Amino acid sequence: MDAKDVEGEIEKVLISAEEIDARLTEMAAEIDAYYQGEKVLLVGVLNGAVMAMADLSRKLSTPAQMDWMAVSSYGSGTKSSGVVRILKDLASDIHDVNVLIVEDIIDSGLTLSWLIANLKSREPKSLRIATVLRKPEAAKVEVHVDHVGFDIPNEFVVGYGLDYAGDYRTLPFVGTLAPHVYGG
Ligand code: PRP
Repeated sequence: MDAKDVEGEIEKVLISAEEIDARLTEMAAEIDAYYQGEKVLLVGVLNGAVMAMADLSRKLSTPAQMDWMAVSSYGSGTKSSGVVRILKDLASDIHDVNVLIVEDIIDSGLTLSWLIANLKSREPKSLRIATVLRKPEAAKVEVHVDHVGFDIPNEFVVGYGLDYAGDYRTLPFVGTLAPHVYGG
């Protein structure tokens, strides 16, 4: 899927596929420099992180394994309540393992903050965070993030794993939706 397939639905491209690729290359170098050949377990947060996991993992020289978690805000359906339930837990024991959480976006930070506390309680050797996107203006909690691809404005964005009602995840770039799509 590309821009021509969603003509009129995307207002503007915020970050092109080429820009994402170039930044992920830099992030992979930062990550390799940190782990210095130690093994790392990449933990992707479903569903949004699939693109980031696939692309970032292939750029790493660090020996890496992959695991996945799926989480959901509890109850009301309002996202980012900070109360999270696990829909799918890790398949592996992370005790004494170097864990790198891979996220597509940090919005309020509430999901990540919960995830960090949850994973820390399993006593990993180390726990670090990489995200492709972060919205500093949307932060409700301060979370230390080790590797950030891009800080973006507090706008509703889709593409590169990010969806609107399940759609647009498969776009290779990050863009803003045209208001008519979401009734704006
Ligand atoms: C997105 C994203 C993060 C979370 C960030 O997931 O992948 O996990 O929201 O939001 P926060 O910082 O405000 O907590 P989402 O719940 O949309 O699920 P998805 O990845 O399946 O689309």
